[in-house]
Amino acid sequence: MNGERQYRLGVLGSGKGSNLAAIADACAAGRVPAEVTLVLSDVPDAGILARGRERGLRAEHLAPGKFRTKLDEEAERRYVAALREAGVDLVVLAGFMRILKGDFLGAFPQRVINIHPSLLPSFPGLEAWRQALEYGVKVTGCTVHLADPGVDTGPILAQQAVPVLDGDTAATLHERIQQAERELYPAVIGALARGEIQVQGRRVTGFRGS
Ligand code: GRF
Repeated sequence: MNGERQYRLGVLGSGKGSNLAAIADACAAGRVPAEVTLVLSDVPDAGILARGRERGLRAEHLAPGKFRTKLDEEAERRYVAALREAGVDLVVLAGFMRILKGDFLGAFPQRVINIHPSLLPSFPGLEAWRQALEYGVKVTGCTVHLADPGVDTGPILAQQAVPVLDGDTAATLHERIQQAERELYPAVIGALARGEIQVQGRRVTGFRGS
């Protein structure tokens, strides 16, 4: 490091944390010029908190409040305050299973990104790999996009294709998509940290691939 301030990531997740692990490892190895300064989860025993702590990262459970699919107002304020206090430049959603509303997104304009396990706009919503398999597409993949108040609708930053193979099950296809996620997400974060990606409305340019 040359003493310059690192680009700071706050990572939010509810699940096992394979994307966090890939991102944190890419940062630690110097492949991504950024650091994970905070990991937050709405699930007290989520793997993502363990993956963070194993790597010496600050990783905290923050209760989501009274709703099932979103943060309540009080919880949203606590999430925003924690991320601001950690000085994050980019909020990285990595399997965070709650919809974030305008107030949260407004606190980090154009600074909240998500990864979704399909080639959007196909198969938004839950278990996108299963939707793709059942539909019968031959190619699916993963998408990194800016979060907006819709479900998986924000401007697309980058995508990586994954073939659907004869004999795939939901589990084998999901695992192949997750491998692609572990390449694509760190690559996009690196490009954002280096200021290479330009966003004008839905038109996004500058990403050169993972
Ligand atoms: C990923 O498959 C991502 O596409 C989806 O949630 C999953 C999180 O997995 N949004 P992990 O917790 O990073 O292993």
